[in-house]
Formats: sequence, C-alpha cells, structure tokens
Amino acid sequence: MLKHLVLTAANMPAVHHLVTDTALGRQMASRFVAGDNLDAAMPAIADLNQRGIHASLDYLGENTSNAAEATKTADDYVAILDRIAATGADANISIKLTALGLDIGEAVCLGNVRRVLERACALNIFVRIDMEGSVYTEPTLRLVHLLHREFAGRSTIPGGVVGTVIQSMLFRSGEDVAGLVAEGIRVRLVKGAYREPASIAFPNKFDVDEHYRQLLRTLLAEGIYPAIATHDEGMIAEARRFAHERGIEPTRFEFQMLYGIRRDLQERLVRDGYNVRVYVPYGTQWYPYLSRRMAERPANLMFVVNNALRS
Ligand code: FDA
Repeated sequence: MLKHLVLTAANMPAVHHLVTDTALGRQMASRFVAGDNLDAAMPAIADLNQRGIHASLDYLGENTSNAAEATKTADDYVAILDRIAATGADANISIKLTALGLDIGEAVCLGNVRRVLERACALNIFVRIDMEGSVYTEPTLRLVHLLHREFAGRSTIPGGVVGTVIQSMLFRSGEDVAGLVAEGIRVRLVKGAYREPASIAFPNKFDVDEHYRQLLRTLLAEGIYPAIATHDEGMIAEARRFAHERGIEPTRFEFQMLYGIRRDLQERLVRDGYNVRVYVPYGTQWYPYLSRRMAERPANLMFVVNNALRS
C-alpha cells in the first residue's frame, strides 16, 4: 500500500523536481548510486572487489523513444565492457531493454543489444538483462530466448553470455522460470520493484515471499548459477538451508544485493564462503531508480529527511 503510494507520488512532476533539483535529493541518491559517471563508479567497484565481492554495473537510464539516445546507450555499454576488461575489475553488466530502444521497436532494440553482446562475447563478460514493468515481460523474455540461442557457444561463460531476471510478485513467473531453466538460461530472482495490477501480481507481501521461496528452490535445484537477489534474511536463510540439504555447493549460485543496502549482510555472506555480487548503478538518470528504492523502504525517506533537517 505504502509502496504504491510512494511510486504514485514519484510520478508527479512536482515531486520529481523537488527531488532532482535539490541538495536533499542528491544526498538521497548518493546513498544508492555510485556516482555520475564511470570514473566515479570504478572506485566503488574496486572497493567491493577488495572485500571479495563481485559487481554488476548498471548505467542508469530507461524508457527512451529516441533512437540516437538508444544507440548512444549501447555505445556507452560497449565502453563500460572495455573499461572492465582494461582494469581487470571483477564485474559484469546489467542492461535495460527500454534504454536500448524497446519502446521504439524490437528490431532497433535487438540491433543495440547485439552490439553489446558481440563485445561482451569477445571479452567473456556476462550481460544480465534486467526485468522492467510487466508490459515488458513478454518482449524481454522473447528477446532473451532469441539472443541466448544466437550467441550460444560464443563465450566460455556457463549458461552463455546473456541471462535475465524473474520477479516473484508475478503469477506467471513459475512458468517463465521453467522455460528459462529448460533452455539453460541464467536467472536472477527478485521480488519485483514495479507497481503491478492485482490481476497479474500478488498484492500481499506474504504471497510474494512464498512464491520467492518456491522459485528459489527450483532455481537452486535445476538452474545454471542462479542469482538469489534479495536483502531479506529469511529468503537468504531459506536458500542456504535448501542448498545445504541438497548438497548444492556454494560455488553453484550467488547472492546479489544493491549498492548501499545491507553492507553488513554482504560481508557476512562472503565470510561464510558464499559468492556475493553487488549491483552498482551510476549515472545522472537516477530518479526512477531512487523512487523504487524509496518505495521498497519508505523508512529510507524519513532517514534522509531527518538527517538533512539536523545538518
Ligand atoms: P524486501 O523488500 O522484503 O526487504 C527485505 C529487507 O531488506 C527489508 O526489511 C530491509 O531491511 C532491506 N531492504 C530492502 N529494500 C531496501 C531499501 N531500498 N533500502 C534499505 N533496505 C532495504 N527488481 C525488478 O523488478 N527488476 C530487476 O531487474 C531487479 N534487479 C535487482 C537486482 C538486484 C541485485 C537486487 C538486489 C534487486 C533487484 N530488483 C529488481 C529489486 C527487487 O525486485 C526488490 O524490489 C528489492 O530487492 C527489495 O526487495 P527484497 O528482496 O530486498 O526484500
């Protein structure tokens, strides 16, 4: 309920301006975003790597209807891949299809993603296609299946160069996981960060969590190097328990968390011998990303506002 409220408010132009045009807004963003550009984000990656944590770089941006902008985003991702390779950073990338032209058309988007994947194959760096709102679920999965077949055998990455994300809040996700697992496509499991209608998504957190538990068991048992992406200690405990019970080695999956959230938990998991990857967003287009982080935990909003009032 509160999540819906925050996401609805975030769409109001006045709120948008209040957040993006003020020091308070930028302060809020700096907790979750590694910097305005790649030069600012690379030290954050180095710091994570030093602590034994892998990274996934996300160049912030979504929903462009401008073909030149989508082409430029693909160019930027190619440059990011080159920088990862040149610095030896332990990182892969996460991309959003709407930033690469999905709203313009699938052909435009495919052309851009192919260019990114060509370079990723040459450098042997994995590319995760993030999952956006439910109007994009079907086209995203269609393109992921197509690209996975097209780029099969072009890298030595287990499960191939491309993988995607499944949201436990959607009713359909059990079938989607089955389809991805059958094709050997890597999956990151999340709860889902977008506002969805009750006709297609669980309105109650209890059901979203229960579905998450079911899907994580399927992925751990049958998937290729699944990513259990959550800050929820209950879900993490369930993954650890299930893997232990089934003799699934910690090397066969990873936990993922977001930059700026539960650093203590990230470090504890590394100490316990698990693979951990942190999703590191950077760039100036941070507003939609920040809105989703605030909606997940409205306490964040109060925390930042209180700090700002005190300083
Ligand atoms: P839940 O929301 O139940 O929170 C559990 C606990 O985690 C909270 O009690 C709190 O302690 C902590 N927590 C969670 N969110 C927090 C926040 N914003 N600030 C501070 N603490 C917080 N979604 C999507 O739709 N498509 C995608 O592609 C991705 N990609 C993605 C990658 C990675 C690496 C992660 C970790 C998450 C995503 N997500 C995503 C977001 C995901 O869907 C979900 O919204 C968030 O992970 C929050 O849900 P939790 O599973 O953490 O649990």
